[in-house]
Amino acid sequence: MSKLIGNAIFGQSGGPTSVINASAAGVFTEALKQTGVIEKVYGAANGIVGILNEKFYDIGQEDPAELELLKTTPSSALGSCRYKLAKPEVDDTDYKRILEVFKKYNIRYFFYNGGNDSMDTCNKISKFIAKSGYECRVIGVPKTIDNDLFGTDHCPGFASAAKYIATTIMEVYLDARVYDSGMVTVIEIMGRNAGWLTAASVLAAHKGQGPDLIYLPEIDFDLDKMMADVKKVYDKEKKVIVAVSEGVKTSDGQYIPELVGEVSVDAFGHKQMGGTAPVLANYIKEKLGCKVRGIELSLMQRCAAHLASKQDVEESFLSGQTAVRIAIDGMTDYMVGFQRPETGDYKCEIKLIPLNDVANTEKIVPREWINAEGNFVNEKFVEYALPLIQGESKIAIEDGLPRFAKLKKVLVPKV
Ligand code: F6P
Repeated sequence: MSKLIGNAIFGQSGGPTSVINASAAGVFTEALKQTGVIEKVYGAANGIVGILNEKFYDIGQEDPAELELLKTTPSSALGSCRYKLAKPEVDDTDYKRILEVFKKYNIRYFFYNGGNDSMDTCNKISKFIAKSGYECRVIGVPKTIDNDLFGTDHCPGFASAAKYIATTIMEVYLDARVYDSGMVTVIEIMGRNAGWLTAASVLAAHKGQGPDLIYLPEIDFDLDKMMADVKKVYDKEKKVIVAVSEGVKTSDGQYIPELVGEVSVDAFGHKQMGGTAPVLANYIKEKLGCKVRGIELSLMQRCAAHLASKQDVEESFLSGQTAVRIAIDGMTDYMVGFQRPETGDYKCEIKLIPLNDVANTEKIVPREWINAEGNFVNEKFVEYALPLIQGESKIAIEDGLPRFAKLKKVLVPKV
Protein backbone atom coordinates (compact mmCIF):
# COMPACT_ATOMS: atom_id res chain seq x y z
CA MET A 1 0.00 0.00 0.00
CA SER A 2 1.44 3.37 -1.01
CA LYS A 3 1.81 6.02 1.64
CA LEU A 4 -0.99 8.55 1.84
CA ILE A 5 0.73 11.83 2.62
CA GLY A 6 -1.22 14.79 3.93
CA ASN A 7 -2.75 16.36 7.01
CA ALA A 8 -4.85 14.83 9.80
CA ILE A 9 -7.78 16.25 11.70
CA PHE A 10 -9.36 15.03 14.93
CA GLY A 11 -12.69 16.14 16.40
CA GLN A 12 -14.66 15.43 19.56
CA SER A 13 -18.42 15.17 19.53
CA GLY A 14 -21.36 14.53 21.86
CA GLY A 15 -21.31 14.44 25.65
CA PRO A 16 -17.82 14.41 27.15
CA THR A 17 -16.26 11.87 29.50
CA SER A 18 -13.54 12.13 32.12
CA VAL A 19 -11.10 10.30 29.83
CA ILE A 20 -12.11 11.58 26.39
CA ASN A 21 -8.93 13.65 26.19
CA ALA A 22 -6.81 10.55 26.74
CA SER A 23 -8.02 9.48 23.29
CA ALA A 24 -7.12 12.93 21.97
CA ALA A 25 -3.66 12.48 23.50
CA GLY A 26 -3.42 9.08 21.78
CA VAL A 27 -4.34 10.53 18.37
CA PHE A 28 -2.15 13.61 18.71
CA THR A 29 1.01 12.00 20.03
CA GLU A 30 0.85 9.19 17.47
CA ALA A 31 -0.02 11.48 14.56
CA LEU A 32 2.77 13.93 15.46
CA LYS A 33 5.23 11.02 15.32
CA GLN A 34 4.23 10.15 11.76
CA THR A 35 6.54 12.63 10.09
CA GLY A 36 6.83 12.13 6.35
CA VAL A 37 3.25 10.82 6.24
CA ILE A 38 1.18 13.15 8.38
CA GLU A 39 2.40 16.67 7.78
CA LYS A 40 0.11 18.71 10.03
CA VAL A 41 -2.11 17.62 12.90
CA TYR A 42 -5.25 19.65 13.43
CA GLY A 43 -7.89 19.63 16.16
CA ALA A 44 -11.39 20.68 15.06
CA ALA A 45 -13.07 23.23 17.33
CA ASN A 46 -16.43 21.78 18.40
CA GLY A 47 -16.25 18.68 16.25
CA ILE A 48 -17.82 18.72 12.84
CA VAL A 49 -18.99 22.31 13.38
CA GLY A 50 -15.35 23.42 13.42
CA ILE A 51 -14.72 21.64 10.13
CA LEU A 52 -17.75 23.26 8.50
CA ASN A 53 -16.56 26.66 9.78
CA GLU A 54 -12.88 26.04 9.01
CA LYS A 55 -12.03 26.57 12.66
CA PHE A 56 -9.27 24.29 13.74
CA TYR A 57 -6.20 24.34 15.94
CA ASP A 58 -2.63 23.55 14.98
CA ILE A 59 -1.75 20.78 17.42
CA GLY A 60 1.92 20.83 16.34
CA GLN A 61 2.24 24.14 18.20
CA GLU A 62 1.13 22.70 21.52
CA ASP A 63 3.60 22.03 24.31
CA PRO A 64 4.14 18.23 24.48
CA ALA A 65 3.83 18.42 28.29
CA GLU A 66 0.32 19.85 27.94
CA LEU A 67 -0.61 17.11 25.45
CA GLU A 68 0.58 14.61 28.06
CA LEU A 69 -1.67 16.29 30.65
CA LEU A 70 -4.64 15.71 28.33
CA LYS A 71 -4.57 12.08 29.49
CA THR A 72 -5.94 13.14 32.87
CA THR A 73 -7.94 16.22 31.86
CA PRO A 74 -11.71 15.72 31.75
CA SER A 75 -14.21 16.98 29.20
CA SER A 76 -13.67 17.70 25.53
CA ALA A 77 -10.56 19.92 25.31
CA LEU A 78 -11.34 20.96 21.73
CA GLY A 79 -15.00 21.62 22.44
CA SER A 80 -17.87 19.41 21.38
CA CYS A 81 -21.11 19.65 19.42
CA ARG A 82 -24.47 18.03 18.95
CA TYR A 83 -24.80 18.79 15.27
CA LYS A 84 -26.91 16.54 13.11
CA LEU A 85 -25.97 16.06 9.47
CA ALA A 86 -28.89 15.59 7.10
CA LYS A 87 -29.16 12.33 5.17
CA PRO A 88 -26.90 12.97 2.15
CA GLU A 89 -29.63 11.84 -0.25
CA VAL A 90 -31.92 14.54 1.19
CA ASP A 91 -29.44 17.40 1.54
CA ASP A 92 -25.73 17.03 0.76
CA THR A 93 -24.73 20.66 1.44
CA ASP A 94 -22.74 19.88 4.60
CA TYR A 95 -21.01 16.91 3.00
CA LYS A 96 -19.92 18.96 0.00
CA ARG A 97 -18.64 21.61 2.36
CA ILE A 98 -16.67 19.06 4.41
CA LEU A 99 -15.14 17.66 1.24
CA GLU A 100 -14.26 21.16 0.08
CA VAL A 101 -12.56 21.90 3.42
CA PHE A 102 -10.70 18.58 3.39
CA LYS A 103 -9.40 19.27 -0.13
CA LYS A 104 -8.47 22.84 0.72
CA TYR A 105 -6.38 21.79 3.74
CA ASN A 106 -5.18 18.54 2.20
CA ILE A 107 -6.81 16.52 4.99
CA ARG A 108 -6.18 12.85 4.30
CA TYR A 109 -6.90 11.47 7.76
CA PHE A 110 -10.08 12.15 9.69
CA PHE A 111 -10.53 10.82 13.22
CA TYR A 112 -13.86 11.38 14.93
CA ASN A 113 -14.34 10.73 18.62
CA GLY A 114 -17.84 10.13 19.89
CA GLY A 115 -20.80 7.91 20.71
CA ASN A 116 -23.76 6.70 18.69
CA ASP A 117 -24.77 9.90 16.95
CA SER A 118 -21.15 10.81 16.26
CA MET A 119 -20.41 7.40 14.72
CA ASP A 120 -23.42 7.93 12.48
CA THR A 121 -21.91 11.28 11.43
CA CYS A 122 -18.52 9.63 10.90
CA ASN A 123 -20.10 6.85 8.83
CA LYS A 124 -22.01 9.27 6.60
CA ILE A 125 -18.91 11.41 5.99
CA SER A 126 -16.81 8.32 5.30
CA LYS A 127 -19.26 7.06 2.66
CA PHE A 128 -19.65 10.46 1.01
CA ILE A 129 -15.90 11.01 0.76
CA ALA A 130 -15.28 7.50 -0.57
CA LYS A 131 -17.94 8.06 -3.24
CA SER A 132 -16.37 11.36 -4.25
CA GLY A 133 -13.10 9.62 -5.13
CA TYR A 134 -11.06 11.87 -2.79
CA GLU A 135 -8.67 9.74 -0.77
CA CYS A 136 -9.12 10.33 2.93
CA ARG A 137 -9.05 7.67 5.64
CA VAL A 138 -11.82 7.93 8.19
CA ILE A 139 -11.65 6.18 11.55
CA GLY A 140 -14.08 6.43 14.48
CA VAL A 141 -12.63 6.64 17.98
CA PRO A 142 -15.23 5.46 20.49
CA LYS A 143 -16.27 7.30 23.63
CA THR A 144 -19.38 7.34 25.72
CA ILE A 145 -20.17 6.98 29.37
CA ASP A 146 -23.39 5.35 28.16
CA ASN A 147 -21.42 2.27 26.98
CA ASP A 148 -23.98 1.64 24.29
CA LEU A 149 -21.88 1.48 21.11
CA PHE A 150 -22.53 -1.64 19.08
CA GLY A 151 -19.82 -4.22 18.44
CA THR A 152 -17.39 -3.29 21.19
CA ASP A 153 -17.16 -4.99 24.59
CA HIS A 154 -17.20 -1.59 26.24
CA CYS A 155 -16.61 2.08 25.46
CA PRO A 156 -13.89 4.42 26.71
CA GLY A 157 -15.37 6.66 29.39
CA PHE A 158 -17.83 4.15 30.76
CA ALA A 159 -15.55 2.53 33.33
CA SER A 160 -14.47 5.81 34.90
CA ALA A 161 -18.06 6.99 35.23
CA ALA A 162 -18.98 3.56 36.64
CA LYS A 163 -16.16 3.81 39.19
CA TYR A 164 -17.31 7.28 40.23
CA ILE A 165 -20.93 6.16 40.53
CA ALA A 166 -20.15 3.07 42.61
CA THR A 167 -17.76 5.00 44.88
CA THR A 168 -20.17 7.90 45.35
CA ILE A 169 -23.04 5.57 46.18
CA MET A 170 -20.89 3.79 48.78
CA GLU A 171 -20.16 7.17 50.37
CA VAL A 172 -23.80 8.27 50.21
CA TYR A 173 -24.86 4.92 51.67
CA LEU A 174 -22.88 5.69 54.83
CA ASP A 175 -24.10 9.28 55.05
CA ALA A 176 -27.73 8.31 54.52
CA ARG A 177 -27.62 6.05 57.56
CA VAL A 178 -26.41 8.42 60.26
CA TYR A 179 -29.77 9.34 61.81
CA ASP A 180 -32.10 7.04 63.69
CA SER A 181 -35.04 8.31 61.63
CA GLY A 182 -36.20 6.86 58.31
CA MET A 183 -34.82 8.10 54.99
CA VAL A 184 -35.11 7.35 51.29
CA THR A 185 -32.39 8.48 48.86
CA VAL A 186 -33.03 8.51 45.13
CA ILE A 187 -29.90 8.70 42.98
CA GLU A 188 -30.30 9.55 39.31
CA ILE A 189 -27.68 8.28 36.89
CA MET A 190 -27.09 9.15 33.21
CA GLY A 191 -27.99 6.92 30.26
CA ARG A 192 -30.80 7.54 27.83
CA ASN A 193 -31.76 4.15 26.43
CA ALA A 194 -29.12 1.91 27.93
CA GLY A 195 -28.76 1.27 31.65
CA TRP A 196 -25.06 0.33 31.78
CA LEU A 197 -24.15 3.22 34.04
CA THR A 198 -27.08 2.79 36.38
CA ALA A 199 -26.27 -0.91 36.53
CA ALA A 200 -22.81 0.12 37.78
CA SER A 201 -24.47 1.06 41.07
CA VAL A 202 -24.58 -2.69 41.76
CA LEU A 203 -20.80 -2.56 42.22
CA ALA A 204 -21.48 -0.61 45.44
CA ALA A 205 -24.02 -3.26 46.50
CA HIS A 206 -21.39 -5.88 45.74
CA LYS A 207 -19.33 -4.22 48.48
CA GLY A 208 -22.32 -4.23 50.85
CA GLN A 209 -22.87 -0.47 50.65
CA GLY A 210 -25.07 0.03 47.66
CA PRO A 211 -28.62 0.57 46.45
CA ASP A 212 -31.58 -1.57 47.45
CA LEU A 213 -33.33 -1.01 44.15
CA ILE A 214 -31.99 -0.39 40.64
CA TYR A 215 -34.17 0.75 37.75
CA LEU A 216 -32.83 0.68 34.20
CA PRO A 217 -34.37 2.04 30.97
CA GLU A 218 -34.35 -1.50 29.56
CA ILE A 219 -37.44 -2.24 31.72
CA ASP A 220 -40.71 -0.29 31.57
CA PHE A 221 -40.96 1.87 34.65
CA ASP A 222 -44.08 1.63 36.79
CA LEU A 223 -44.52 4.25 39.52
CA ASP A 224 -46.82 2.08 41.66
CA LYS A 225 -44.50 -0.89 41.40
CA MET A 226 -41.53 1.28 42.42
CA MET A 227 -43.53 2.65 45.34
CA ALA A 228 -44.40 -0.87 46.50
CA ASP A 229 -40.70 -1.86 46.18
CA VAL A 230 -39.59 1.16 48.20
CA LYS A 231 -42.21 0.60 50.89
CA LYS A 232 -41.21 -3.02 51.27
CA VAL A 233 -37.57 -2.09 51.98
CA TYR A 234 -38.56 0.92 54.09
CA ASP A 235 -40.88 -1.08 56.35
CA LYS A 236 -38.03 -3.46 57.07
CA GLU A 237 -34.94 -1.23 57.09
CA LYS A 238 -36.14 2.37 57.48
CA LYS A 239 -33.39 3.31 54.99
CA VAL A 240 -33.74 2.90 51.25
CA ILE A 241 -31.39 3.77 48.42
CA VAL A 242 -32.83 3.79 44.91
CA ALA A 243 -30.57 4.00 41.84
CA VAL A 244 -32.56 5.11 38.82
CA SER A 245 -31.60 5.86 35.25
CA GLU A 246 -32.49 9.27 33.85
CA GLY A 247 -33.83 7.32 30.87
CA VAL A 248 -36.50 5.20 32.57
CA LYS A 249 -39.83 5.47 30.78
CA THR A 250 -43.36 4.40 31.54
CA SER A 251 -44.92 1.73 29.30
CA ASP A 252 -46.51 4.51 27.23
CA GLY A 253 -43.08 6.04 26.54
CA GLN A 254 -43.00 8.97 28.96
CA TYR A 255 -39.85 9.96 30.80
CA ILE A 256 -40.40 10.69 34.50
CA PRO A 257 -39.95 14.50 34.21
CA GLU A 258 -42.62 14.44 31.49
CA LEU A 259 -45.14 13.28 34.08
CA VAL A 260 -44.96 16.74 35.64
CA GLY A 261 -44.08 19.06 32.72
CA GLU A 262 -42.61 19.48 29.25
CA VAL A 263 -39.03 18.70 28.31
CA SER A 264 -36.99 20.29 25.51
CA VAL A 265 -35.58 18.44 22.49
CA ASP A 266 -32.06 18.63 20.93
CA ALA A 267 -30.90 18.62 17.27
CA PHE A 268 -31.09 14.85 17.13
CA GLY A 269 -34.68 14.91 18.37
CA HIS A 270 -33.54 13.56 21.77
CA LYS A 271 -35.43 14.83 24.78
CA GLN A 272 -33.33 16.69 27.37
CA MET A 273 -32.48 14.31 30.17
CA GLY A 274 -32.26 15.08 33.88
CA GLY A 275 -34.80 15.78 36.58
CA THR A 276 -35.96 12.24 37.32
CA ALA A 277 -34.62 12.12 40.90
CA PRO A 278 -36.50 15.19 42.20
CA VAL A 279 -39.78 14.02 40.65
CA LEU A 280 -39.47 10.56 42.19
CA ALA A 281 -38.24 11.98 45.51
CA ASN A 282 -41.32 14.26 45.77
CA TYR A 283 -43.60 11.39 44.88
CA ILE A 284 -42.06 9.08 47.50
CA LYS A 285 -42.13 11.84 50.12
CA GLU A 286 -45.85 12.40 49.53
CA LYS A 287 -46.60 8.71 49.83
CA LEU A 288 -44.29 7.75 52.70
CA GLY A 289 -44.08 11.03 54.59
CA CYS A 290 -40.44 10.41 55.57
CA LYS A 291 -37.29 12.35 54.73
CA VAL A 292 -36.39 11.87 51.08
CA ARG A 293 -33.42 13.20 49.14
CA GLY A 294 -33.16 13.22 45.37
CA ILE A 295 -29.59 13.36 44.05
CA GLU A 296 -28.65 13.89 40.40
CA LEU A 297 -25.10 12.75 39.72
CA SER A 298 -25.46 14.85 36.59
CA LEU A 299 -22.24 16.17 35.00
CA MET A 300 -20.12 15.05 37.96
CA GLN A 301 -20.29 11.43 36.82
CA ARG A 302 -18.78 12.19 33.43
CA CYS A 303 -16.07 14.70 34.42
CA ALA A 304 -14.72 13.11 37.61
CA ALA A 305 -11.14 12.73 36.39
CA HIS A 306 -9.94 12.50 40.00
CA LEU A 307 -11.63 9.12 40.24
CA ALA A 308 -10.99 7.81 36.74
CA SER A 309 -10.10 4.18 36.17
CA LYS A 310 -6.46 3.74 35.16
CA GLN A 311 -7.54 0.91 32.89
CA ASP A 312 -10.00 3.25 31.19
CA VAL A 313 -7.42 6.02 30.75
CA GLU A 314 -4.98 3.58 29.16
CA GLU A 315 -7.61 2.04 26.88
CA SER A 316 -8.85 5.47 25.82
CA PHE A 317 -5.33 6.48 24.88
CA LEU A 318 -4.88 3.16 23.06
CA SER A 319 -8.04 3.68 21.01
CA GLY A 320 -6.75 7.04 19.74
CA GLN A 321 -3.26 5.73 19.08
CA THR A 322 -4.66 2.67 17.27
CA ALA A 323 -6.90 4.83 15.08
CA VAL A 324 -3.84 6.64 13.71
CA ARG A 325 -1.80 3.48 13.28
CA ILE A 326 -4.46 1.59 11.34
CA ALA A 327 -5.21 4.61 9.14
CA ILE A 328 -1.53 4.91 8.25
CA ASP A 329 -1.63 1.19 7.43
CA GLY A 330 -4.38 1.86 4.92
CA MET A 331 -7.57 1.10 6.88
CA THR A 332 -10.59 3.34 6.57
CA ASP A 333 -14.32 3.28 7.45
CA TYR A 334 -13.87 1.50 10.80
CA MET A 335 -14.39 2.29 14.45
CA VAL A 336 -11.77 1.08 16.91
CA GLY A 337 -13.43 -1.30 19.37
CA PHE A 338 -12.44 -3.61 22.19
CA GLN A 339 -12.92 -7.27 22.97
CA ARG A 340 -11.84 -9.47 25.86
CA PRO A 341 -10.71 -13.11 25.79
CA GLU A 342 -13.60 -15.54 26.19
CA THR A 343 -11.89 -17.26 29.11
CA GLY A 344 -9.14 -16.36 31.53
CA ASP A 345 -8.09 -13.03 32.89
CA TYR A 346 -9.30 -9.75 31.46
CA LYS A 347 -7.20 -8.34 28.67
CA CYS A 348 -8.18 -5.53 26.35
CA GLU A 349 -7.83 -6.58 22.72
CA ILE A 350 -8.45 -4.34 19.73
CA LYS A 351 -11.30 -5.16 17.39
CA LEU A 352 -12.17 -3.13 14.30
CA ILE A 353 -15.86 -2.63 13.57
CA PRO A 354 -17.21 -1.31 10.23
CA LEU A 355 -18.72 2.13 10.80
CA ASN A 356 -21.87 1.00 9.05
CA ASP A 357 -22.47 -1.62 11.73
CA VAL A 358 -21.93 0.86 14.56
CA ALA A 359 -24.04 3.73 13.26
CA ASN A 360 -27.46 3.92 14.86
CA THR A 361 -27.33 0.60 16.68
CA GLU A 362 -27.51 0.77 20.47
CA LYS A 363 -26.22 -1.94 22.77
CA ILE A 364 -28.36 -2.36 25.85
CA VAL A 365 -27.91 -4.33 29.09
CA PRO A 366 -28.83 -7.99 28.44
CA ARG A 367 -32.18 -8.92 30.00
CA GLU A 368 -30.57 -11.88 31.77
CA TRP A 369 -28.31 -9.51 33.72
CA ILE A 370 -31.41 -7.89 35.27
CA ASN A 371 -33.47 -9.72 37.91
CA ALA A 372 -36.93 -11.11 37.06
CA GLU A 373 -38.70 -8.30 38.97
CA GLY A 374 -36.82 -5.68 36.95
CA ASN A 375 -35.56 -3.85 40.03
CA PHE A 376 -31.96 -5.04 40.43
CA VAL A 377 -28.90 -6.24 38.51
CA ASN A 378 -27.10 -9.53 39.04
CA GLU A 379 -23.52 -10.78 39.41
CA LYS A 380 -23.05 -11.11 35.64
CA PHE A 381 -22.78 -7.34 35.47
CA VAL A 382 -20.29 -7.30 38.35
CA GLU A 383 -18.09 -9.83 36.54
CA TYR A 384 -18.28 -7.74 33.39
CA ALA A 385 -17.57 -4.37 34.97
CA LEU A 386 -15.01 -5.06 37.70
CA PRO A 387 -11.99 -5.54 35.41
CA LEU A 388 -12.79 -2.27 33.66
CA ILE A 389 -12.66 -0.07 36.76
CA GLN A 390 -9.30 -1.29 38.01
CA GLY A 391 -6.48 1.02 38.93
CA GLU A 392 -6.35 4.66 39.93
CA SER A 393 -5.50 7.33 37.43
CA LYS A 394 -2.95 9.72 38.93
CA ILE A 395 -3.81 13.28 38.07
CA ALA A 396 -1.18 16.01 38.26
CA ILE A 397 -1.64 18.22 41.32
CA GLU A 398 -0.57 21.84 41.78
CA ASP A 399 -1.28 23.79 44.98
CA GLY A 400 -3.45 20.95 46.18
CA LEU A 401 -5.69 21.15 43.13
CA PRO A 402 -5.73 19.35 39.78
CA ARG A 403 -3.44 20.65 37.10
CA PHE A 404 -5.41 20.10 33.93
CA ALA A 405 -4.06 20.66 30.43
CA LYS A 406 -4.10 24.21 29.11
CA LEU A 407 -3.88 24.16 25.34
CA LYS A 408 -2.73 27.21 23.40
CA LYS A 409 -5.31 26.48 20.69
CA VAL A 410 -3.47 28.29 17.91
CA LEU A 411 -5.95 28.72 15.07
CA VAL A 412 -4.93 27.46 11.65
CA PRO A 413 -5.02 30.46 9.26
CA LYS A 414 -7.85 30.19 6.74
CA VAL A 415 -6.65 29.48 3.21
O1 F6P B 1 -23.21 11.47 25.82
C1 F6P B 1 -23.96 10.75 26.69
C2 F6P B 1 -24.63 11.59 27.73
O2 F6P B 1 -23.71 11.93 28.72
C3 F6P B 1 -25.86 10.89 28.26
O3 F6P B 1 -25.66 9.94 29.21
C4 F6P B 1 -26.69 12.04 28.71
O4 F6P B 1 -28.05 11.71 28.69
C5 F6P B 1 -26.42 13.06 27.68
O5 F6P B 1 -25.12 12.80 27.21
C6 F6P B 1 -26.49 14.45 28.21
O6 F6P B 1 -26.25 15.30 27.17
P1 F6P B 1 -26.01 16.86 27.29
O7 F6P B 1 -24.62 17.06 27.74
O8 F6P B 1 -26.21 17.33 25.89
O9 F6P B 1 -27.03 17.36 28.25
